Amino acid sequence: MSIRLGDTAPDFTAESSEGTIHCHQWLGDKWGILFSHPADFTPVCTTELGTVAKLKPEFEKRNVKVIALSVDPVQSHLEWIKDINETQNTTVNYPIIADPAFEVSKLYGFVHPNASDKFTVRSVVIISPDKKVKLLITYPASTGRNFDEILRVIDSLQLTDNYSVATPANWKQGEDVVVIPAIKTEDIPAKFPKGFKEIKSYLRITPQPNI
Ligand code: BEZ
Repeated sequence: MSIRLGDTAPDFTAESSEGTIHCHQWLGDKWGILFSHPADFTPVCTTELGTVAKLKPEFEKRNVKVIALSVDPVQSHLEWIKDINETQNTTVNYPIIADPAFEVSKLYGFVHPNASDKFTVRSVVIISPDKKVKLLITYPASTGRNFDEILRVIDSLQLTDNYSVATPANWKQGEDVVVIPAIKTEDIPAKFPKGFKEIKSYLRITPQPNI
């Protein structure tokens, strides 16, 4: 099975480097990021897991819990974590799911058999507090992910969940946003007191409303 945006994120119970995880219960009322890895003791994955450990305060600031997945067993994860901590100069501070039977990987579509039948690919799933799938990105095994981009998407999702705006190309926290097409131009002043600029009838720019 694979998942699509708007689906309920499949629930599962799995062993991890921090004990048994019941996914929905573990997420509670927080946002979640689940990211998959081809295998333990691989170079790119090692840098990714270290990077996420260093970014944990940024995820926490945004009310996001992070959890990794690799198809090796728990004991292997525990040995690998020692290497990650040593080589990336950090402390892995979030669970890594052990998925040796590919159960979670199959639920989430992390196996792309035409890319590799032995490894899961590098996928990222963002899950909202109501357990909906909000973002899916898949990278090839040879390309490490940009976790600053994942934080940027979280900022956009949390903003656009609460205001009738969308974020333009390369938007970053603090920059102007666009008013969604469903809002009539005559209704903008009441909804966006900071003002707006109409570049085209369908392209209306306003300062980020929540700062
Ligand atoms: C890596 O994490 O470095 C990696 C894993 C599988 C294939 C290529 C690279």
